[in-house]
Amino acid sequence: MIRLFRVSKRYPEGVTALHEVSLHIEKGEFAFLTGPSGAGKTTLLRLLFREERPTSGQIIIDGRNLIKLPRKEVPFFRRNIGLVFQDFKLIPHWTVYENVAFALEALGTPPREIRKRVLRVLGMVGLHGKMARKAAVLSGGEQQRVAIARALVKEPKILLADEPTGNLDNEMACRIMEIFEEINTRGTTIVMATHNYELVSRYGNRVIGLDRGRVVEATERVAEGT
Ligand SMILES: Nc1ncnc2c1ncn2[C@@H]1O[C@H](COP(=O)(O)OP(=O)(O)O)[C@@H](O)[C@H]1O
Ligand SMILES: [Mg+2]
Repeated sequence: MIRLFRVSKRYPEGVTALHEVSLHIEKGEFAFLTGPSGAGKTTLLRLLFREERPTSGQIIIDGRNLIKLPRKEVPFFRRNIGLVFQDFKLIPHWTVYENVAFALEALGTPPREIRKRVLRVLGMVGLHGKMARKAAVLSGGEQQRVAIARALVKEPKILLADEPTGNLDNEMACRIMEIFEEINTRGTTIVMATHNYELVSRYGNRVIGLDRGRVVEATERVAEGT
């Protein structure tokens, strides 16, 4: 599903954020991407979303070579990928409902279907009662849940989540993990960056550990020498 071959990323200012990272993530996996701040987790997710391009190496997602993907095909490629950013990027003067519905409107989903799906995901993240509020007036944790709903409403094949539980209390973090596990059971491949080691140890998921841009620890299925 996701294959990286010796992927390096050097930012223009000279920081090498990733150094020859090779790994495979199979369809249906739920993998944690861990490592201290600055390890390269966000960079890796941005490469997978085709928000950045690697300096060298190859990235194959769902059979498509991201290096060769023309710019005009990027929106089509992203239809199947849900992304939960670290900074939520909600539209502050839009309501919760509008922020989530927009993800589907942009894809041309019929209005009735949009309404059904938005209401369902808002229920999943516990925001059904706040759908008419403006995003700007929500707490940080609520905004984070809107961002999660916005990613899930696309029913993506792949979910990329960058510290999705970072601003949430323990109870809500567990709730989000339950939702992720449920959609993973239904077939969505998940890569979730987190530096919450307690959470990582509580779940038995595969762990891909990064440190200063290198894979330092990975439970199973690391591509070697490829
Ligand atoms: N847009 C950018 N321009 C320059 N350097 C960056 C940029 N984004 C991240 N970096 C640097 O790349 C390294 C990895 O960062 P990041 O991928 O954000 O790590 P993490 O998410 O694990 O904290 C850090 O040294 C960071 O300062
Ligand atoms: Mg990060």
